[in-house]
Amino acid sequence: MQKYLIKDLAKYEGQDVTLMGWASNKRESKGLVFIVLRDGTGWCQCVVSLETVGENLFEEARKVSLESSLTISGKIIKDERQMGGFELQATSVTLIGESIEYPIANKEHGVDFLMDKRHLWLRTQRQWAIMRIRNQIIFAIHKFFQEEGFVQMDAPLFTGNACEGTSNLFETDFYGDTAYLSQSGQLYGEAMAFSLGKIYTFGPTFRAEKSKTRRHLSEFWMIEPEMAFYDIFDNMNLIENFLRYVTTEVLQNCEKELVIIGRDTSILKNISKPFPRLSYDEAVKIIKGEQDVNGKNAITSLEEELKMVQARMQAIKEEILQREEKLKVPGMKKGEIGFNQAQIDKLKQELADCEEQERNIPQWLNSARNFEYGNDFGGSDETVITRLFDVPIMVYNWPHAVKAFYLKRDPADSRFARGVDVLAPEGYGEIVGGGERETDEKLLIEKIKEHELPMEAFEWYLDLRRYGTVPHAGFGLGLERLVTWLCKLPHVRESIPFPRMYGRLLP
Ligand code: 4AD
Ligand code: MG
Repeated sequence: MQKYLIKDLAKYEGQDVTLMGWASNKRESKGLVFIVLRDGTGWCQCVVSLETVGENLFEEARKVSLESSLTISGKIIKDERQMGGFELQATSVTLIGESIEYPIANKEHGVDFLMDKRHLWLRTQRQWAIMRIRNQIIFAIHKFFQEEGFVQMDAPLFTGNACEGTSNLFETDFYGDTAYLSQSGQLYGEAMAFSLGKIYTFGPTFRAEKSKTRRHLSEFWMIEPEMAFYDIFDNMNLIENFLRYVTTEVLQNCEKELVIIGRDTSILKNISKPFPRLSYDEAVKIIKGEQDVNGKNAITSLEEELKMVQARMQAIKEEILQREEKLKVPGMKKGEIGFNQAQIDKLKQELADCEEQERNIPQWLNSARNFEYGNDFGGSDETVITRLFDVPIMVYNWPHAVKAFYLKRDPADSRFARGVDVLAPEGYGEIVGGGERETDEKLLIEKIKEHELPMEAFEWYLDLRRYGTVPHAGFGLGLERLVTWLCKLPHVRESIPFPRMYGRLLP
């Protein structure tokens, strides 16, 4: 049987087709039932008219409930006003699977409720669009690395060594031995790069992050290229080209999805500008307000914003009161009541957003003012600095004491290690962590001891320094962090089909 897809309707204008999908919406008016069918490729309004289909079929169509699955046949007509630009004039409607009292209605639900119903939430248009953007990002990542001559290889997920510290390991039983779920494929990536030159891994990684933040998942997907004969500067050039490529692909191929989720793409279009490269020292000065960025000061701009938020909150509260008073006056028309009520709901939503800002900004200010030189950046510090930029920034040369054991000590100043973090703008923060690798076996052994890691588990890794070591570098991009930023999501939980995080194992 021929399969007709909604995305291809332009090809079938004027023809009779059969669509298969789910009823995502339904409304009725005299003698007509409008069913919006979605089939995974798009949405199409199907019009069932009593005159055309007769009484029995029309009654069937009237009974169609939200998210029941259907086959609908009929003629495809061009209609610019419709989403997708076409409409189907139905001649038959056949029920495949009933859907009784679908729990997600066309109204606002709380996030916890939607998370519990994630298996159904995925069917909504917004989630559909995010998943398609995620897919485009994955595709672009492979395209970029394959075009650049990288070989995709896979690192094991059961490992005996901790790559990113021991504090967030998931432990599991491996035939009586302790194994950990991989936090990163990097160490294996280094071995593979010494065989194939330029490789990338792309797989799930696991971190027991016992806190609820908008940035952390327990299971996330990481892309980790590793390149022989690359130093930190080659690495930064690659990261920049890579992020530019992927973002451009998304802008070019996901126009409609970006519109659906309401993403303002003006900032994403800056991706062709050079990414500022800041040393850790410079970045700290910016966070602490000791150095401005394009005339903007981290601290004073936050203080001003707090004042603006508070003024706006006052104005919103007054407007809500006024509208509520208006609603009390008798004799208001139904349409007017509805309009006022909708305005009040909108204002309340904006007020809630402002209240969140009013809570957040003092925390950001506090952490920026009290930032201690030598520390790693926390989420607040990343927010403070990235709000000042409209492109991703690269912060390099970190104090070696706060970064991973494998980073190369800076030959020019041994207090620093050649790590680089990429922080996404608009307050998003770290999306990439990487750097040049230590090649000096002695320094590595020192670091492994300092981090209290079991030496036996790293013997094979040290072999890479014993048998023909070369300068090499790489990085890890958190897929969900990139999806979250490119889609401007409020939280990382919407960037992956079934998020796993502290307190969330179902569905
Ligand atoms: O900065 P991280 O810890 O670096 C590494 O794992 C290196 N071994 C990568 C390398 O050089 N090959 O993690 C890399 C990226 C982060 O920048 C972030 O985007 C993402 O992984 N990430 C997380 N994403 C979601 N939830 C978490 N809990 C994450 N932890 C890290
Ligand atoms: Mg990191």
